[in-house]
Amino acid sequence: MVELTAIDGDKAEARKLRIAAVGDIHVKETSDMGLIRDLFADASRSADVLVLAGDLTDTGTPKEAERLAEQFRACSIPLVGVLGNHDFEAGKVDEVKTILCQAGLKLLDGSSTEIDGVGFVGTKGFAGGFGTRMLGSFGEPAIKNFVAEAMSEAMQLEIAMRGVKAKRSLVVLHYAPIQETVEGEPREIFPFLGSSRLAETIDRFPVDAIVHGHAHRGRFEGRTPGGVPVYNVASHIEKPGGQAFAILEI
Ligand SMILES: [Fe+2]
Ligand SMILES: [Fe+2]
Repeated sequence: MVELTAIDGDKAEARKLRIAAVGDIHVKETSDMGLIRDLFADASRSADVLVLAGDLTDTGTPKEAERLAEQFRACSIPLVGVLGNHDFEAGKVDEVKTILCQAGLKLLDGSSTEIDGVGFVGTKGFAGGFGTRMLGSFGEPAIKNFVAEAMSEAMQLEIAMRGVKAKRSLVVLHYAPIQETVEGEPREIFPFLGSSRLAETIDRFPVDAIVHGHAHRGRFEGRTPGGVPVYNVASHIEKPGGQAFAILEI
């Protein structure tokens, strides 16, 4: 949990925001939407804001997005999120974005929003690996394009972070910014689960916490090299308290 010290004389600053966060709900045309509805209703009772950390749909079809959007009615608190790689699969990402945003999702796409004194800043992120084993921009154009995509996501995040005015902030990603929270996945796929470039960017700013998904078999908690708490909130990962979502207080 992230807890900040109250600032004397400023009640708005002192009040912690309770944030429910979950990733990778992967809504399919055959999904049991009662479970999703219950998740949104439970989160609305437990928190002030619900954060969705990407892979909102399973194959990125407008039909899946519509099924999810219908359930947003069960969410009575602000809904903030990023897309994941699965949301791009059908090649209909603009339609998916429109459906979800019109139903009330505040999409973070290299952008930020402020709710009750907390800045939410996010982007999907990309792959490329971690630390000294990170893929470098060398060789064939295809490799350089791959690395350029990871650098572009980090750059968009940096630009968005520069725009955050709030003293408290949460970064929302789909891909992992550190290796620690993907551990538990097969080592062979670590490079496809995230990129240290994201953590390098985030560590240049005062951030209270980071949430991500994508690594379904990863670990719940880790820290960036700069000490920022990182939570892998993929729906498949057991959360403290046994709820379907993590609760962070910022
Ligand atoms: Fe996923
Ligand atoms: Fe994913």
